[in-house]
Amino acid sequence: MGESFDAVSVIATKRDGGALSDAEIDWVIDGFTAGEVHDEQMSALAMAILLRGMDRREISRWTTAMTNSGQRMDFSGLRRAGRPLVTVDKHSTGGVGDKITLPLAPLVASYGIAVPQLSGRGLGHTGGTLDKLEAIAGWRSDLTYDEIVSLLESVGAVVCAAGASLAPADKKLYALRDVTGTVESIPLIASSIMSKKIAEGTQALVLDVKVGAGAFMKSEADARELAQIMVELGNEAGVRTSALLTSMWEPLGMTAGNALEVAESLEVLSGGGPADVVELTVALATEMLAAAGMTGVDVTDNLRNGKAMDVWEAMVRGQGGDPKAALPQADHSETIYAESTGVIESVDAMSVGRAAWRLGAGRARQGESVQAEAGVRMHVRSGDRVEAGDPLFTMYTATPERFASGRAALAGSTVIGSTPPQTLSRVIDRVTVEA
Ligand code: URA
Repeated sequence: MGESFDAVSVIATKRDGGALSDAEIDWVIDGFTAGEVHDEQMSALAMAILLRGMDRREISRWTTAMTNSGQRMDFSGLRRAGRPLVTVDKHSTGGVGDKITLPLAPLVASYGIAVPQLSGRGLGHTGGTLDKLEAIAGWRSDLTYDEIVSLLESVGAVVCAAGASLAPADKKLYALRDVTGTVESIPLIASSIMSKKIAEGTQALVLDVKVGAGAFMKSEADARELAQIMVELGNEAGVRTSALLTSMWEPLGMTAGNALEVAESLEVLSGGGPADVVELTVALATEMLAAAGMTGVDVTDNLRNGKAMDVWEAMVRGQGGDPKAALPQADHSETIYAESTGVIESVDAMSVGRAAWRLGAGRARQGESVQAEAGVRMHVRSGDRVEAGDPLFTMYTATPERFASGRAALAGSTVIGSTPPQTLSRVIDRVTVEA
């Protein structure tokens, strides 16, 4: 039993700009996990942290305390044909149309790496990987540890829900942050993500830290700081971690919505798909293979020759899904047309994410169900020329009364002008411990 404190003093220390001691952090996280530090006290502390920040020692200790609040998984015994398997995971800080896990996990696994993707559900305008995969008939996310191990050894890639025992302090805290306006704090985001990833027991981790209108981090400086802290936290904990800073000003690919994004991922796994989705999939796969010690691989090979698709089909089948089943299609659609002629100067990611969410692809509260078929298809992207009357977006939903709010979200999302935007790479920079 460690030292005991009182919650009000801990909150007051942070409120007044002080640093919490290691013992205070351990006490508050343990007490919160056990229900002894109450939700209203933790909410006040989260707000004090958001406003006052934390130094590096505090962030590191907070992360360790949350990692230790539950069980840790261990994949070090994975074997295939008697040989040890290296595990590499990817985590994205989330954005609009971010379906990258779907093609990425099987692609990396097709090179003999084990990819345990313990994922979450979407909240608000960003979609969740599990929600996307649940658009596939029969697919299930609730796997036991033994099932995860068996699939990693046989197929190589697993995408499943993180069990309740993984960093339970973070699960409770994230639910509070979500309803108290305390999500957007670099120390809280970094410790939240990294406690789960460290507890998951992956050997290496590649982070995709998004910057832009559709991301948590709206400025490159903030995204860089978040990436740097997470890379350091991972490496300190013995997880080989690096990050790519990537742009989320515009939606990724041409679709936002669960079944629509699965269909787009299948295009990538078939060797096609939108150039930006392919670019990011390839960049992250290359980084993941490098983390596993494989350099100089042209990962587009296994997208072209069908090997990544074979792993995808085995992965979906291994989790009860039918990879050949038709994806759900919405009964209702409505298209929005360009009102003027010119060049698309920008498409705002947040507007598209919000529209998909309002059409039924996302949830406003934890636990709500989502529509597999709802979402937005973009017909154009930045740099395209359009004539007045050309289609810009098609909205899909099972509940057509939602079209009005989808339309409202998309109003003003697209700037049509005369200046073609610069074509920029999605990947802004790479962040490592040496940086
Ligand atoms: N994702 C997480 O898991 N935690 C955060 O705080 C933000 C995004």
